[in-house]
Parts: sequence; C-alpha cells; structure tokens
Amino acid sequence: MGVSLDTPVRDRAKQPKETKLAPGVKFDILPSPNPVPEQERAARLADPGFGRVFTDHMAIVRYNQAKGWHDARIESRANFPLDAATAVLHYAQEIFEGLKGYRREDGGVNLFRPDANARRMKDSAERMAMAPLPEAVFIEAVEQLVRIDRAWIPGGEGSLYLRPFMIASEVFLGVKPSAEYIFAVIASPVGSYFKGGPAPVSIWVSETYTRAAIGGTGAVKCGGNYAASLRAQAEAIEHGCDQVVFLDAVERRYIEELGGMNIFFVLDDGALITPPLGTILPGITRDSIIALARDVGTPVREEPYTIDQWRADAASGRLKEAFACGTAAVISPIGKVCSVNGDFAINGGAAGPVAMGLRKQLVDIQYGRAADPHAWIRKVF
Ligand code: PLP
Ligand code: COI
Repeated sequence: MGVSLDTPVRDRAKQPKETKLAPGVKFDILPSPNPVPEQERAARLADPGFGRVFTDHMAIVRYNQAKGWHDARIESRANFPLDAATAVLHYAQEIFEGLKGYRREDGGVNLFRPDANARRMKDSAERMAMAPLPEAVFIEAVEQLVRIDRAWIPGGEGSLYLRPFMIASEVFLGVKPSAEYIFAVIASPVGSYFKGGPAPVSIWVSETYTRAAIGGTGAVKCGGNYAASLRAQAEAIEHGCDQVVFLDAVERRYIEELGGMNIFFVLDDGALITPPLGTILPGITRDSIIALARDVGTPVREEPYTIDQWRADAASGRLKEAFACGTAAVISPIGKVCSVNGDFAINGGAAGPVAMGLRKQLVDIQYGRAADPHAWIRKVF
C-alpha cells in the first residue's frame, strides 16, 4: 500500500501537543572533545561578519508522540543525519528564531527578551501544526549553549547570534503534520548584519512579488517565508539595493516589511508610524522600539502607510527619517528608496537623529550600559 495510509486521516492531521521535559528541564551536557583551539577561535572572532562563524556546540531536543520532548542535550555542533524522506526536506515544515547574547562590561552575558522569542516560536509551531516547545525548554537550551560557548562571544559591539530552530523529522512522504521533531539551537558570533554597519541602507520596492497574504504565514517565522523572499531580494541586489521592501498582497500599495526586518517612518511632528500587525512578523525589536518611544511620550501609530504617501512625504519634507529594525540588523537607517517608478532619498541619504538615538538607547539596554525599565534583560551569568 505505498506510504502509510493505514492511519485514519483524522489522526494523521492531528496537531502534536506540548508534553514532558518541563518545568524540571534537564539537559545532558556533553562537551566537545575537539573544540576549536584558542588561537584559531581568536582569528575567527576578529571579523566574524554575519552567520559564517559557528561555535563548538549546539543544543538539541527531540520530540515524538510517545515520549513528548525528550533527550535534551548540549553536544558538539555536528551534521544532522537525515533520511532522504525526512518530512522537512519535502514540505518545509520548519520554524526558527533569532536572538542575541551580549557581553557586558563586567564580563557577564545578557539575553534580550528570550521569553518573547520562546513565545513567538510557540506561535510559529501552532501555525505550522508542529509540536509546541515549552518556553522553559527554549530558554534553558539557549542559556546552556551560551554558558558552554561563552568564549565565543565577541567583545565590543559584537554579539553571539543564537538561532533556535525546529524541523519536522518524521520519515514519511504523506502531506500531514510530522509526528517527530528536532529542536536545536546553534550560535554564531556576529558583527554587523550590513557591511557598512549602521550606515544608511538602500531599499528596493518589490512591485512583482509579495511576501504574505491574510491567512498565510507572514506573521510567523517559518523558513518558507524566507525561501519565497529570495527572488525579490535578488531583484533588489540587481537594482543596486541592500534590501527588498514588500507591499501588501491585496492592494499592492501598503508598505509591509523588509525580507528580514520591520520598518518605521519618522514624521516632522515627531510621530512614528509602523505598519500594523497581521501579515508581518511581530518583531521583538519593533515592539521594543514602540515601548521606548511611548516611554518618552512619542506618539507611535501602527497604521497602514502607502508607497505613494512615502514618496510624497519624502518630497514634501513631512517624512524626516525611515529605518529598518530587527535582531540581526538592530536599527538601520534607510537612506534611499528605489522602485520601477523612480528613486527617492530620505533625509538626504544620511542617518537621522531619531533612528540613531533609538539605536543607542536599545543597544545600551542590551549591553547592560543603561537602565532596563521594562525588565527585558535576562542575565545568563
Ligand atoms: N521581519 C522579518 C521578516 C524578520 O525576519 C525579522 C527578524 O527576525 C524581523 C521582522 C524582526 O524581528 P525581531 O525584531 O524579532 O528580530
Ligand atoms: C533576525 O533578525 O533574527 C532574523 O532572523 C533575520 C534574518 C534575515 C537574519
């Protein structure tokens, strides 16, 4: 009978439930027998760029229906042996997160809002019919990895980018939610996401491709969203731009977000505008910026903003600045917008004081240099 059609369809479509391995989460710690030698590590840390250098270890936890989440380990970073019929390789049932560890001046390490990443990963799992991972397991995995790989955290303005992710690991070609999952966390010491650091970036407005529609997966962090954005991002690069910005899929005129960042507009009356949630990723940086702005009485409006309005406001001077934000990119001013209907500059192509001020405020909290009024920081040690 070919692929296993012996399970009733209703059962095969069932969404796995969160079970086991929390709250008394316990990871087996298996230190790598062959860590990268100190001198080589120092060489790799000198100019790590983004996402090319990796630490010695990874966290890994497995799920199956009988045991729930189990077999939690910290072990050497290694290949995953995957059967060629593993579900994720065919139907992309995969989700991920991104957060950073920041080295404080006293030598300790801060995580920024890891609870928010853990919650968003649960939301992503729910949308993708995957087994939700208990938040306590997510946080323990991240913390244990940071502890064992602490020597890999760059000093200065560098950080340790943490990449939790989950894949459907059942070996089965039927289209249904996998009955097995692997959750893992890897870590990558990083400098700036953009080569020019916080220098203004240029943005290509995609009129051809959209990122997400109502009812789709735009609001969750699944790998498929990024695969689908790559053609548009390639178009941005072909037009000499750093990043693509997507318009809404219905009217094709409201600004949504970039391939991997949210967006803000700064008006001449001091107000901030940012596209509303729904089809965009609910960014943790976005949420933090809204809170920091409101703390000092800056009005923030989460409302639709069209590309035509953006162009008109840039021309009239009503728009003072625009910036992109995300864990990887932090806050990056947007200096130039390009599209098939012509290009326009923002703030004369220069970084503006609002973007740079918010960036400093946020980064100072993350590195423990400023007070943390919202209790966003979690000290690993
Ligand atoms: N939007 C997209 C599509 C992203 O990939 C990211 C990065 O994670 C963001 C926005 C910003 O989210 P966060 O601030 O949580 O990193
Ligand atoms: C992040 O900022 O954490 C992301 O996942 C964005 C990605 C483009 C690196």
